[in-house]
Amino acid sequence: MATTQTITAALATQTNPVQSAAETSVEYREGEYKYAAYLPHYTLGRQLPLEEFEHHDVGLRADRDKKALLDSDATFHEITPAIGTEIRGGLQLSALTPAQLDEMALLAAERGVVVFHDQDFADIGPDRQLAYGQHFGRLHVHQMGGHIKDYPALLPVYRDFVAGAVDNEIKNNISSIKWHSDMSYEINGVGTTTFLALDVPLSGGDTLYLSTTAAYEALSPGFREFLHDKYATHSGFTQASVHEHRERYIREPIETVHPIVRTHPVTGAKSLYVNRLYTRKIQGLKEEESATILNFLYNHIEHGQDWHIRVHWTPGTVIVYDNRNTQHSALRDFAVQEGVTRRHMLRITPQAERPYFDAGAKAKNNKTGESKWKDTVV
Ligand code: SIN
Repeated sequence: MATTQTITAALATQTNPVQSAAETSVEYREGEYKYAAYLPHYTLGRQLPLEEFEHHDVGLRADRDKKALLDSDATFHEITPAIGTEIRGGLQLSALTPAQLDEMALLAAERGVVVFHDQDFADIGPDRQLAYGQHFGRLHVHQMGGHIKDYPALLPVYRDFVAGAVDNEIKNNISSIKWHSDMSYEINGVGTTTFLALDVPLSGGDTLYLSTTAAYEALSPGFREFLHDKYATHSGFTQASVHEHRERYIREPIETVHPIVRTHPVTGAKSLYVNRLYTRKIQGLKEEESATILNFLYNHIEHGQDWHIRVHWTPGTVIVYDNRNTQHSALRDFAVQEGVTRRHMLRITPQAERPYFDAGAKAKNNKTGESKWKDTVV
């Protein structure tokens, strides 16, 4: 494969140009790769820390019956009772009306994961992809600075023969599984997230998803109660430390305290908000107590197949998932053959509210009634 790592001259930074910048990208020969414009790109420089802001979720204004979505020609299949809805035919994400986008946010909040197939979304161009993402909230720019050229809020996830299938984060692990919610160390969490395939291996490279609402609901009432007033630290430092190229970071890593059980603003449902990748310590407990409870929760969340699904990517697959009540892990199980295998994904990551716990919130319509679906298949 004719990939070359190149360092080219660069641009000024977006918000705080304290140093002159350089950009680094993987470069393909012109015309050789359809999605070359979506390869990872870095604009160096420092940006100010993200600050807390008020988020109004579009799912709150959606029609609870989702008529605009359901009245289409698409078929809706529950993947499992606890998590995941698959949509086939009849709907192009790129052509949804604002009302349908609101209903899709509600659907993602209720089901955790919504899988679309045969979409043209990868080919509509970065301007439309950006505008689509902005419908759901203020878009997140990653602390590591990777993005597609000129679009800091469009995040590529890229592996090939040069990059390898496996990165530093997992190279010393037995398996490639790293369950997490995206950037849970940020102050405002991230919400209705869109992840799509640009180029994927025929076999392997699936993504695993799980429902942290179902994992919470499986716990005994007494243990749930114990967790209700607990808060834990989430840290961006480990992610920063395992990466090479420290010069590419655009923000200093931070630590933030979040509730262990969070309430979803749209559904009112509670879910567990701790993950092995970023959560560090429960406030107010001794080290051993915190480690024991956190390890129990990680194992519980990660081992309950009752609330897990696995999605295989094909060209045209787009997944919309709610980062507030799910976790996911990539599988880096594919061989990266020169000129043959490439796993190239794009993520659009709107921020949402700062996670909160509301003991009194009642879950609304969290379990999707079968009668709502034209075709319910497990
Ligand atoms: C991620 O871990 O955030 C990306 C998931 C994937 O590449 O499947």
